[in-house]
Amino acid sequence: MGLTMEEIAIGIKEKKYKNIAFMVGAGISTGAGIPDFRSPETGLYANLEKLNLPYPEAVFDIDYFKKHPEAFYTLADGLYPGKYSPTKFHKFIKKIQDAGLLKRVYTQNIDTLERLAGVDEKYMIEAHGSFAKNFCIECKHSMSVEEIKEAMWGEDFEKSDKKGKKVGIPRCKNKICKNKKQGGLVKPSIVFFGEQLPKSFFQALEDDLPDEVDLAIVAGTSLTVQPFASLPTMVNCPRILFNDERVGNIGRKRNDVVVIGDCDEKIEEFCKLIGWSLDEEEEEGSNETEETEEEGGGVEAAEEKVEEIAKELEKVELEGDKEDDKHDKKGS
Ligand code: OAD
Repeated sequence: MGLTMEEIAIGIKEKKYKNIAFMVGAGISTGAGIPDFRSPETGLYANLEKLNLPYPEAVFDIDYFKKHPEAFYTLADGLYPGKYSPTKFHKFIKKIQDAGLLKRVYTQNIDTLERLAGVDEKYMIEAHGSFAKNFCIECKHSMSVEEIKEAMWGEDFEKSDKKGKKVGIPRCKNKICKNKKQGGLVKPSIVFFGEQLPKSFFQALEDDLPDEVDLAIVAGTSLTVQPFASLPTMVNCPRILFNDERVGNIGRKRNDVVVIGDCDEKIEEFCKLIGWSLDEEEEEGSNETEETEEEGGGVEAAEEKVEEIAKELEKVELEGDKEDDKHDKKGS
């Protein structure tokens, strides 16, 4: 007999697992109102008719972006971080961090909701990048989130009602940009198809896998995009999947546990088995965990935090991410 969800929960409670790695995707953010990519009716790829794309994934294709940047920016208009708050699942990741059991969070998401939930940057591998940093695709000059927002929505973007307005396309303002005429196209450091994943992703693989992780929690991903999709096959430890469908080969190994259903609902059940609560109010009166919830929640707090994160990230040395390993992100 293999493991059960209850046994894994007890293992967490008793701190048997001390190096937990999360491998997550868009499904952990749907509860925040952000659509995932591949769900048949609600996913982004099923709802891109207005962009007239040759195929849905073209919206994240670097060659297509060079010719039709308006497609990506129309999508970015709806997805831009700032108006979404972390879900229960994100809060669970923070709980694992607070319990001192977190090894790594490998995320494919570009919404930065893990950080907004309070997960420390040192644990984060944003394998497909994020909206936080922006570069000219021709001269690599960086542009702040403020400048991007201004280019997309106009100077009074904080006050203006963006609904129905055509989104602007950010252009490089560097006086010595290679594209002298218009300024090169500026793109967030989201990893497009045809681009390399960040060096930090490959470094973390080398550091963590297979032996430095003792529990893998996979959630909200269809495991279709390589190389990320291979991560769960690279561990030698129990794996637990929280997803509304079976994915990858999880369920085929002896110590696999598959939990099918809404990941926010299931993670609450799982927390109860551990003896934790994800409810902030209950949490305040409880001394059961070492938790120190500091996030205020709400859209304004979320917006402020995104700005903070963006500013922090802009300070970080950028070159490392550009010259990286020769691995392209590919659909499989
Ligand atoms: P997908 O949309 O491919 O998969 C999301 C998975 O989560 C699917 O299996 C859904 O059934 C499941 N799901 C959705 N909502 C859920 C919920 N509330 N509870 C449980 N399960 C739920 O998203 P990813 O696997 O993240 O690349 O996609 C990988 C990459 O493909 C993305 O990073 C993106 C895209 O091209 C980018 O570069 C931005």
